[in-house]
Amino acid sequence: MNTEITAFDKLREECMLCQKCELAKTRTNVVFGVGNPKANVLFIGEGPGENEDLQGVPFVGRGGQLLDKMLDAVDLSRKENIYIANIVKCRPPKNRDPQPEEQESCINWLRAQTKLIAPKIIVCLGRISAQKLIKQDFRVTVEHGMWFEKGGILFMGTFHPAALLRNPNNKPAAMEDFLKLRDKINEICPETYTESGLR
Ligand code: URA
Repeated sequence: MNTEITAFDKLREECMLCQKCELAKTRTNVVFGVGNPKANVLFIGEGPGENEDLQGVPFVGRGGQLLDKMLDAVDLSRKENIYIANIVKCRPPKNRDPQPEEQESCINWLRAQTKLIAPKIIVCLGRISAQKLIKQDFRVTVEHGMWFEKGGILFMGTFHPAALLRNPNNKPAAMEDFLKLRDKINEICPETYTESGLR
C-alpha cells in the first residue's frame, strides 16, 4: 500500500479548514476535487451544488451523471485519467452564482492544485469558469470548443452540464467539443489513453 503523504494531500488538508470567505459559514463540506492528481486533463466547473455540498465531491447530481456519460464517450473517467475541480470550493447558498469576491478568495486553492497537477489541457465547464480562467468576456454559445493557449496550457470552454439539462438542443454541440478534446489529447498527450492517465 502506498502511504506516502503528497504535497497534494497536504493542500487538500489545508483547504478543508478554509475560512477565507462567507461561504465557509453555510457549507456542509468543502468540495476540493476528485480524480487523478497526475492527470493531463483538468476539468473545472463553477461551484458545488446541494448534492456536492452534502457529499463533498464535485459533479455528483444529475449534471454530474451527464458529465460522466460524455466523458465515457471519449474514454475519459474521473477514476482514471482526469481531475475535476471547481472555481469555488464551497456551495453558494441556493446555488446562486459565486460572487467575484468569493471567486477571488478561492482562486489560490485552484492555482495551487493546477500547479501540482500540471495539466496539459484545462476544460472550463460553463460561463463562470471560462470567464474566470480564459477571458472575462467569454461567450459559451460563440466560443465553445475553441482552443486558447495560456502559460503553456491549452484551455477550452464548453457548455455546463446543468445548462445542457435545461437546454438539450446544445448536447450535440457539446459532444463535438468532447470529440475535439479527444483529438487534442491524442495529438499532445496520448499517454492519457494508454497508461491510465499516469505520467
Ligand atoms: N456544478 C458545478 O459547477 N460544479 C459542481 O461540482 C456541481 C455542479
